[in-house]
Amino acid sequence: MRKPLFACLALLLIAGVLYAFHTRQRPPLAVVTAGTLRVKARSCSECHLQIVENFQSAPHSRTLHRGTAPIVKSRFLNKEATIDGRTFRFFEQENELWFRADDLDYARRVDWVFGSGEHAMTPVSIDKDPDGLDRLTQLQLSWYADDQLHPTPGTARTATVPPRLGRTANADETERCFGCHVSWLPRKRKVDPAGAAAAGIDLKNLVPNLDCSRCHSGAAAHAASDGSEPLDFSWSHLTAIESINRCGECHRRADEMTPEELTPEHSHLVRFAPVGIALSPCFQEANSEAGQKHYPRFDCMSCHDPHLPTRSDPEFFNATCRECHTTQARQSESRTPHISCSEQPLTASCIECHMPKKAAGEGLEFTDHWIRRTHDKRDP
Ligand code: HEC
Ligand code: HEC
Ligand code: HEC
Ligand code: HEC
Ligand code: HEC
Ligand code: HEC
Ligand code: HEC
Repeated sequence: MRKPLFACLALLLIAGVLYAFHTRQRPPLAVVTAGTLRVKARSCSECHLQIVENFQSAPHSRTLHRGTAPIVKSRFLNKEATIDGRTFRFFEQENELWFRADDLDYARRVDWVFGSGEHAMTPVSIDKDPDGLDRLTQLQLSWYADDQLHPTPGTARTATVPPRLGRTANADETERCFGCHVSWLPRKRKVDPAGAAAAGIDLKNLVPNLDCSRCHSGAAAHAASDGSEPLDFSWSHLTAIESINRCGECHRRADEMTPEELTPEHSHLVRFAPVGIALSPCFQEANSEAGQKHYPRFDCMSCHDPHLPTRSDPEFFNATCRECHTTQARQSESRTPHISCSEQPLTASCIECHMPKKAAGEGLEFTDHWIRRTHDKRDP
């Protein structure tokens, strides 16, 4: 009896190590149902007041809105736009926001709106797929930061032939959309225990936006213990690559891409900041074993505070570059080896050339996080 049991245990152990190794290399993608129960930011403010107050201004605290939210009404109600000769409009009916086109005899209700509005807000409508699962349709028009309605990215072709009001996602895609924009996405209780493996997501009880526990799992227990219980993990104990990959659960990671995709010709990569950072010689060199002796750690938090809106002053970011790319004079007395711009003085605005903004259609711009030489020569 002993031996098979021992063999089983050994196998389990090996499987566990392999699994741990595997997940270490490829940490799981977006955690749809956050592991910990939701917490109210209020329960953190007693001890972390400044962060809780800051966080109210962060786009992370406004990633998803209900269709009935006041901000949604103020941005969409009674607005219209014409695309390719068809006029679409948002109107109110029994206190709900609806969307229609002048050549169609039906309308869709706005159930949710994705995006903080820092760049854009996309309204979606929910209906059931043939299996009875919720799926969303991204409506044809989104609100953009220029306070105008423009086409929602990706809806253009599907919406006109045959005439539709937007692009419909399947149930899996719908789950992923919500997964990255919420803190808590429960599943529906199975009604029929036999057949209902696909019980689907429970949109009624989801918790919109990113709350503290989405990035600090274990926060509920930590707060309940008056701060003495440690969190499940500490960001500062992660390696630099683990840290950017955590952000990359939603912002996308380099190891999700095929190697062929990781070239400057793939312009969609500018949307995926962790991919760009992971490819940057700054990140690779500064965080290498040898580099760590000379440079400060380099990760998203070198330039961003996830509890605050993004800074818009270039000098803030340029100062970060200069922490490592210093003048020769300062270097002789500092730990930093000599690497400075061969083209421009230290006073130049580094990000203008090495982290340029790139257009992504409909007036959306993203910042190329792949810091590299000869930006213009290598780009298409
Ligand atoms: C009663 C006070 C108290 C409350 C309530 C509290 N914390 Fe803390 N928290 C602390 C203390 C004290 C520390 C420092 C602990 C340490 O450094 O070991 C801390 C540290 C932290 C850290 C840093 C941990 C690390 O290792 O990097 C995070 C993140 C954090 N708290 C999040 C939260 C969140 C989120 C909430 C609300 C759900 C919360 N805390 C509620 C007292 C509290
Ligand atoms: C659960 C998913 C998720 C995680 C994890 C996440 N983000 Fe985000 N982040 C978002 C979403 C969604 C938005 C878009 C908000 C909006 O609509 O403007 C966003 C926006 C941002 C922005 C842009 C804000 C602006 O001003 O436009 C920055 C910067 C950012 N995140 C940095 C980070 C960093 C750094 C981390 C890791 C510490 C991180 N994010 C982790 C989902 C996530
Ligand atoms: C893997 C996680 C992930 C998934 C899946 C996802 N988003 Fe996002 N979404 C983000 C992040 C991160 C941002 C902020 C950075 C950016 O815009 O790429 C964002 C930003 C947005 C914005 C703000 C505008 C903008 O471009 O900044 C809208 C609107 C949006 N998402 C809608 C959707 C919809 C609709 C779906 C499903 C069709 C979806 N998202 C699926 C992570 C995700
Ligand atoms: C998008 C992810 C994200 C969200 C949401 C988030 N945090 Fe953080 N938090 C981080 C990261 C990353 C760090 C580590 C920062 C660093 O290393 O500079 C951090 C650090 C902290 C710390 C310790 C460092 C310090 O400055 O004292 C506390 C406390 C904290 N967060 C509390 C909160 C609270 C409270 C909330 C909700 C209001 C919250 N966080 C929401 C990502 C997040
Ligand atoms: C060396 C500095 C630097 C680092 C490191 C950095 N960013 Fe950025 N990020 C910027 C700059 C500069 C902008 C543009 C700010 C502006 O003018 O709006 C930006 C903007 C963004 C935006 C808004 C959309 C866009 O592309 O303009 C997101 C989202 C974002 N960063 C996510 C991240 C994430 C996630 C990480 C870590 C993987 C990260 N950033 C690391 C400098 C940095
Ligand atoms: C934490 C330190 C650190 C920071 C911060 C940093 N870099 Fe770097 N950077 C490095 C290191 C190390 C290298 C690699 C030098 C080498 O190859 O020996 C590098 C390389 C480069 C290169 C050459 C890349 C190539 O293709 O060979 C450029 C350009 C560059 N950095 C620009 C910047 C800019 C612009 C910023 C600010 C947005 C910045 N760096 C921030 C450490 C840093
Ligand atoms: C006007 C555009 C521009 C500005 C502004 C600029 N650079 Fe450069 N940088 C370049 C070009 C062009 C090269 C050379 C690329 C090549 O020859 O492959 C370069 C090269 C570099 C290199 C690689 C060094 C080498 O010898 O090849 C580093 C590091 C660098 N820049 C850092 C910076 C930093 C830090 C700043 C801000 C103080 C900055 N750059 C500002 C255009 C610029």
